[in-house]
Amino acid sequence: MIEKRSVHFSIFRFDPEKDGKYHYDEFDVDTLPGEVVLSALLDIQRTTDPSLSFRHSCRMAVCGSCGMVINGQQRLACKTQISSLSGSEVVVEPLSSMPVVKDLVVDMDKFFDNMRKVKPYLIRYSQDPAKELLQSSENRRRIDNLVDCISCGVCTTACPVFWTNHSYLGPAALVKAFRFLSDSRDEGYDEHIEHVVLDNGALTCKDAYQCTVTCPKGINPQEAIEGLRAMMIQKRVWERIHQEHAVQISVTTD
Ligand code: FES
Repeated sequence: MIEKRSVHFSIFRFDPEKDGKYHYDEFDVDTLPGEVVLSALLDIQRTTDPSLSFRHSCRMAVCGSCGMVINGQQRLACKTQISSLSGSEVVVEPLSSMPVVKDLVVDMDKFFDNMRKVKPYLIRYSQDPAKELLQSSENRRRIDNLVDCISCGVCTTACPVFWTNHSYLGPAALVKAFRFLSDSRDEGYDEHIEHVVLDNGALTCKDAYQCTVTCPKGINPQEAIEGLRAMMIQKRVWERIHQEHAVQISVTTD
């Protein structure tokens, strides 16, 4: 017989339609070996408190909707095994620095606004071939890990720079920009890089590395940001060469 273990949960609560003040509610949950935090939350909702609010959908680390802070670190609730957590209790809180809508549900508008700025989709101007647009394995390997991003917001809300400045694009949007700028089929260089080079783009990152530590898909956003900075230097060098070339032509013509 599989033995259950009682685990104490302390969960952040906030209901703007009640008193509008936050507090923590305590629950004891009988958990099975390998059980994840999301499963315990569903258990609490089903058996003890139906008003407990949180987002989830796929339950397999694909939809990106169950990001929350668990024992002080941003994680996906559907991927975090309770047995992997240290300490005698599990503390569950909403994603850091985001406006709380209710309990563990946060307003992700600003996060997705920033995502939209880098145009996170394939841009093509050439006429596409009649058949599938093929990509060599070598070119595909360049974006292998980057395509795994599920836009869960874990990396961005773990970033201390984003906590104080929601206009900073943040690691998730920068990973998306780098993913499409590195895609051999994409032709939208100017569109993807436009906001990356501005204030609140790649140079606003302060190398805290929290994005890389927390990404539940094993992506390294810090490396992507470094890649973007290299692209920016290349862009500036080319612009300089073009400018100087233009000056030389005008001097020669005069
Ligand atoms: S429920 Fe979809 S990522 Fe967790």
